[in-house]
Amino acid sequence: MAQPDIGTWRPETLAVHQGVFQDTAFNSVTTPIYPSSTFAFERVGVHKGFDYTRSGNPTRQALTENLASLEGGVAAWATCTGMAALTTTAFLFRTGDHIVAGHDIYSGTIRLLDSVLPTLGVSTSFVRMRDPDEVRRAIRPTTRALLVETPSNPMLNLVDITAMVAVAREHGLLTIVDNTFLSPHFQNPLAMGADVVVHSTTKYLNGHSDVVGGAIIVRDPKLAERLSFLVNALGTTCSPFDAWLVLRGVKTLACRMEAHQRNALAVARWMKKHPRVLKVYYPGLEDHPDYTLACRQMRGFGGMVSFDLDQGKLPLDDLFGKLKLFALAESLGGVESLIEHPWTMSHASIAEETRIAAGISPNTIRMSIGIEHPDDLIADLERALGPVA
Ligand SMILES: Cc1ncc(COP(=O)(O)O)c(C=O)c1O
Repeated sequence: MAQPDIGTWRPETLAVHQGVFQDTAFNSVTTPIYPSSTFAFERVGVHKGFDYTRSGNPTRQALTENLASLEGGVAAWATCTGMAALTTTAFLFRTGDHIVAGHDIYSGTIRLLDSVLPTLGVSTSFVRMRDPDEVRRAIRPTTRALLVETPSNPMLNLVDITAMVAVAREHGLLTIVDNTFLSPHFQNPLAMGADVVVHSTTKYLNGHSDVVGGAIIVRDPKLAERLSFLVNALGTTCSPFDAWLVLRGVKTLACRMEAHQRNALAVARWMKKHPRVLKVYYPGLEDHPDYTLACRQMRGFGGMVSFDLDQGKLPLDDLFGKLKLFALAESLGGVESLIEHPWTMSHASIAEETRIAAGISPNTIRMSIGIEHPDDLIADLERALGPVA
């Protein structure tokens, strides 16, 4: 089947088509799954583009072409988890190198930077990335990269990517951005000058809570060469079946992200009026401290809403016990709404003082707003929290 000219396609079209139509045997309109671990050579030194699935696979290549186009990169890699994407990226650094990262990023990333990389001689300083001067002060002669997560998990603080890129360039550093929370539908860090984008595709890119995966996307061919080597050497690629699931999910990314956002905004506005809710965190609310930055840097506000519950008025178990639509579960970005308690669940693995410094308290609740009807979601929350007035 002829490959159309993609130069003029918009992201919604790329998500459906890019990398997908590769089957010249039967012209299937979806990407076939090639579960083969190995591919026969025609003769020594000659094969049809693939030799061994850890190194390359046609189904996974369809996904990576798709993701590279959505993020505006020259190359992408699909890894077996989001942490595998971050771990592979971390191997860009060597003993003695130093990283500066946001203080309120995902707990698993903090664990990697704080408890694993030091065993390889790579250290990290965690700073408030809202303030470029604080980032500048943390930079040492050995610093090699800024690691940005925006919006952050779970407090939904934003980091100004353009400002971070400017600081990084002043000091010759790489800018790495975890774009999991917004997906390429709402934010493109490479277009703002970042060097590396990482994703947990487990979340919005797949969008159906039925696979764990990750992705790395870059815009510099030299960096692409190094990452191709690392992904293969470390063996962090994902299976063909998982790649196929994520590719199927990506095709509906645009419609899902718009629905997540519409619902999240409705829920956040309703929660703000609630007497049992102390504070709502959502970058789409006009009184969010980063609202202006959100409007400049993002094309949408995303589907994550966090809030502080007044546990004096409603104990946690009463809230979670009465909800019927929201499942009490970690993870996020799927079509179904989830709710969780970061203090004891997603962020329990990091030190209490780190959680407190990030603004997480025992009252903090994180919601991943799904694509159900917003009235049903609000009715479910009302059943648990009680009426607004
Ligand atoms: C922002 C962010 N980055 C990375 C990860 C790690 O992804 P995974 O669980 O797919 O390894 C997560 C997981 O929740 C996340 O929220």
